[in-house]
Amino acid sequence: MSSSAVEYAHQNHPRFLHELKALLRIPSVSTLPEHKGDCHFAAEVLAAELSRIGMENVRIIETGGHPLVYADWLHAEGKPTALAYGHYDVQPPDPLEEWLSPPFEPEERDGNLYARGAVDDKGQMYMHIKALESLLATNGVLPVNVRVLLEGEEEVGGEGIAAYVASKPAELKADFALVSDTELFAPGLPTLCVGLRGMIYTELEVRGAKTDLHSGMYGGAAPNPFVAVAHILAGLKDEQGHILIPGFYDDVISPSPEELAAWRSLPFDEEHYRVTEVGARQLTGERGYSVLERTWARPTLDVHGIPGGFTGAGAKTVIPAKAVAKVSMRLVPDMTPTRAFALYKSYVEEIAPAGVDVEVRLIHSGEPCLIPVDNPYIRAATRALHEVWGKETVFIRSGGSIPIVGDFARHLGLPSVMMGFGLPDDNLHAPNEKFNLKNFELGIESVIRFLEECGN
Ligand code: BES
Ligand code: MN
Ligand code: MN
Repeated sequence: MSSSAVEYAHQNHPRFLHELKALLRIPSVSTLPEHKGDCHFAAEVLAAELSRIGMENVRIIETGGHPLVYADWLHAEGKPTALAYGHYDVQPPDPLEEWLSPPFEPEERDGNLYARGAVDDKGQMYMHIKALESLLATNGVLPVNVRVLLEGEEEVGGEGIAAYVASKPAELKADFALVSDTELFAPGLPTLCVGLRGMIYTELEVRGAKTDLHSGMYGGAAPNPFVAVAHILAGLKDEQGHILIPGFYDDVISPSPEELAAWRSLPFDEEHYRVTEVGARQLTGERGYSVLERTWARPTLDVHGIPGGFTGAGAKTVIPAKAVAKVSMRLVPDMTPTRAFALYKSYVEEIAPAGVDVEVRLIHSGEPCLIPVDNPYIRAATRALHEVWGKETVFIRSGGSIPIVGDFARHLGLPSVMMGFGLPDDNLHAPNEKFNLKNFELGIESVIRFLEECGN
C-alpha cells in the first residue's frame, strides 16, 4: 500500500536533516545550570515548528525546571488519540577531547549523523514531528488524534513532567503513548521495547573531622572519609555482583518462561558484545543469569563518581573532612524506588565505620515498568514495522530508564508503544553519539505507517 505521506517524507528528507542539525546545535544540557537558557530556547524552537506544521494549541508549559512543550491536533473524530512523547534535553558532552567532531556541530560521516542528542533523543523526537508534518502536508488531516508532549528534564529524572502528568490535566487524555527513545536490538531488526528498568540515583556524604587535616600530624588518629566511603561501597555488592542490601531482591519478579525463551532466540553474541560494545577483558555480574537477563531483568548498583579530596596533579598530604559518592541502583518490576531507597539508606548507616557521620540523599528516582503487549496499538505497530522493515518485530526490554513511561501507565492508564530506532553502538551518553541516517528516515516512515494503522 502506498502512502503519499511516506512519499513526502522521502522527498523532503534533506530538509528534515537540515532542520534536525539546527536543533542539535542548541546545547540543551539539562543538568548544567549554565545551559538553562539553551533548554528554554530548544523548547521555543520546537513549539514554533509544531505550529508551523499545523499542530494546534501549541504551548510552552513552565515547570519548576525546564519547560514542557505541548501541542495537539484533535479532529479525527471516532479515532484513537496518541500521546507522542520525546525529550529535547541532552547529557553533558564531556569528555570533549574524545569527540571526532564537536558535540554541538552535527556532522555526517559514513551514513551517520554525529552530535550530542542525535539519537537520545532529539533525532528520535524529531521523527515524530516530521511524521506529523508529512501526514498533515499531504492529507490536510491526521489519521488519529495526536497530542505531543516534550520535556527537557528526562536526563535529570523528569520531575516537571512527572508532576504535570500526576495532576492528570485534560490535555493528556489519550489512548496510548508513543515513545521513540529506545533502540533496535540489531541493525535492520524492527524492535518494540516492552520493559524498562527504574532507578534511584543517590549521593552519600561522609564527614570525619571538622576540617581538612595534615595527614602526618593526624594520620592514625583522625577518621578518613574516603576510606570510609571505600569501605561502605565495598560492602554493597559481593564479587559476583550480588547486592548485599538485606531485602533488596524481595520484590523482584522473574520474567515468564515464554519471555526468557524469546530472549534466548534473539540474535545475541556475547563475545561480540564483550569486545565491540563493552571493550573489557571480561563481563561481570550475577551468576546464573544471561547478559540480557542481567541488564534487563535484574537490579544493579553502580558508582558514578567520588568527588572531593585532593585530585590535582602531584601530591597533597591531607585527610579531607568529607567525601561524597554518587551511587545509583537500577530497579526492575516490582521493586519500588521508595522501598529500595529505605533499604539502601539503613544498610549504609549500618555498615558505616565508626567515627564518621553519613548522610544518604536521594537525587531522583523512577519506577520500573512492563508494558502489556496484548493491545491494538502494539499490534498496529508490528504491522507498520513489517511494512517498512520487511521483518517480524522482536520484543525486548531495556536496561535504561525513561521515568515518565511508568507514570503514563500509573496515572493516565496509557499503554506505551516504545518504538525506537537507535542502535546498540550509538554511543548514548558517551563521546561520538550518533544516529544512523537510514534509521532516521525509516523511523519517520515507521511512525507515519504506525499512525495510519492506528487510524484504520
Ligand atoms: N533514552 C534513554 C533510556 C534508554 C537508553 C532506553 C537505551 C533504552 C535504551 C534515556 O534518555 C536515559 O538515558 N535515561 C536515563 C534516565 C535517568 C537519568 C532517570 C537513564 O537511563 O540513565
Ligand atoms: Mn532518552
Ligand atoms: Mn539519555
